[in-house]
Amino acid sequence: MSAEEHSSFIQTPQQLVVVVLLAFLVPVFGILMIVHLVVDRPRADPAAMTPEAIAARIQPLGRVEFVDAGRAAAGARSGEEVVKAVCAACHATGVAGAPKIGDKAAWAPLIRRGLDKMLAVAITGEKAMPPRGGAPDLTDLELARAIVFMANQSGGNLKEPAEAAAKPAAKK
Ligand code: HEC
Repeated sequence: MSAEEHSSFIQTPQQLVVVVLLAFLVPVFGILMIVHLVVDRPRADPAAMTPEAIAARIQPLGRVEFVDAGRAAAGARSGEEVVKAVCAACHATGVAGAPKIGDKAAWAPLIRRGLDKMLAVAITGEKAMPPRGGAPDLTDLELARAIVFMANQSGGNLKEPAEAAAKPAAKK
């Protein structure tokens, strides 16, 4: 074995400078990268931290949404649609004394009193019947149509009010 094999691979002052610099910089970079990894965690998308986004994430499960967003453009809903979406919750089964759809005996006196009277009660609510069936976005026309639909399923023969007949929506 020659002496040369044991000699350092650093042969010149320049090589020495490079090695010293690397010996210093490589660990520093390593530390910087580790620090960066720990300190600069990937941050949450700022859009996900807006109050709206948070509210949407933490909203309770099973929220009942009576308001149909696409409805304004679609125009007034039919009585059947309103009944299915809103009124049936109580009137399909007769919850809390609600006149049950199809129960002729329950509806007959109401029908005799007339649509206007029923509409007035449905708008303001009465006992367990919430105002507008609990869907304040319903227009008078939609309410009237819903009442006509339920009454006509229950022995009535009411005429559905036409769109034009609706007064300028007397919403609350
Ligand atoms: C939360 C349950 C509930 C919902 C939802 C509901 N109703 Fe009722 N409704 C009742 C109850 C209870 C009564 C009986 C009130 C009473 O005892 O006078 C009633 C009574 C009525 C009456 C009879 C009013 C009268 O002249 O005495 C009409 C008409 C009516 N509801 C229409 C509707 C329509 C239309 C909807 C949907 C838009 C609706 N209801 C949704 C519970 C409900």
